[in-house]
Amino acid sequence: MAGGRGTRGKGAVGPLAQPSPTAGSTATGPRPAAPTAPTSRLEMTGISVAFGGVTALSDVSLVVEPGQVHGLIGPNGAGKTTLFNVACGLVRPSAGEMVWRGRPVRRLRPHQLAGLGISRTLQGVGLFAGMTVLENVMVGAHRHARAGFASALLALPRSDADERALRARATAALADLGAERYAGRYPGGLPYPVQKRVALARALVSEPDLLLLDEPASGLGEDEMHELGELIRTLSGRMSVLLVEHHMDLVMRVCDRITVLDSGRQISAGTPAEVQADPAVTEAYLGDDVDVAADAAALSATEGGRHHG
Ligand SMILES: Nc1ncnc2c1ncn2[C@@H]1O[C@H](COP(=O)(O)OP(=O)(O)O)[C@@H](O)[C@H]1O
Ligand SMILES: [Mg+2]
Repeated sequence: MAGGRGTRGKGAVGPLAQPSPTAGSTATGPRPAAPTAPTSRLEMTGISVAFGGVTALSDVSLVVEPGQVHGLIGPNGAGKTTLFNVACGLVRPSAGEMVWRGRPVRRLRPHQLAGLGISRTLQGVGLFAGMTVLENVMVGAHRHARAGFASALLALPRSDADERALRARATAALADLGAERYAGRYPGGLPYPVQKRVALARALVSEPDLLLLDEPASGLGEDEMHELGELIRTLSGRMSVLLVEHHMDLVMRVCDRITVLDSGRQISAGTPAEVQADPAVTEAYLGDDVDVAADAAALSATEGGRHHG
């Protein structure tokens, strides 16, 4: 996230910091309640998913509290992406229910997300290769943005005024992430960390109330990961965040609460310190083929589960 310094951290600039039409928001507080007073709370209760004979998730429940960062961790194959996909309507659970802003969400479809105030980035990047960086971010503001390349093109605004406004918001979102200078480039030629920033800008330009992130730190170096952590902390308070992540140090640093999955089951939940001290978690990560166990060991040796208030 190099290059974003100076535009973030002391209160974001750009579309993220602009008061909404309903006004009254502060830079750090949650946005004001609409007349129906929905809170940006996501509740997932008793979620089970089976793929053919494979049980990917079994009776998993979690609550993402308004304005908090909720971490979802677990070894490879634990079911993190599956639960994430349930939250964004890509996978239909075989059991369980989801409540968003106090209302049950049934038969959620991906194209409905933006209308519900939900944005996501997927594992990997998923930018449209045939559009510039700026255009990729612009389609993120539109509720049909994720339906596909063709409808994304159709979704671009018709009137010059709309176009200018959207262009300004997209440019500001890119600036927020230190990626403004790539606006005219095509994603394919850009370094992976830059592509990830663009994907995040696309998710943020619609000013979501809930941001779903699947492994945003994958492929990032240490410095970029640190800046990503700072950014996520900045975002919380303005929106709720569900963070699926493999890097334990990042999760421990930025999350308010954490749910731990293993083999499709919830094995632990709590604050970072609580989860870190839970022997079930350490045990689950033994033998995992990534560096999570090492991260955890290094972290408990150095930081003792330090956690943002
Ligand atoms: N589309 C699918 N079809 C069949 N099995 C799947 C599918 N997606 C995931 N799985 C299986 O579900 C389990 C959980 O996978 P996933 O949610 O991707 O785990 P994680 O993201 O924690 O690594 C794994 O056993 C995986 O092989
Ligand atoms: Mg995954």
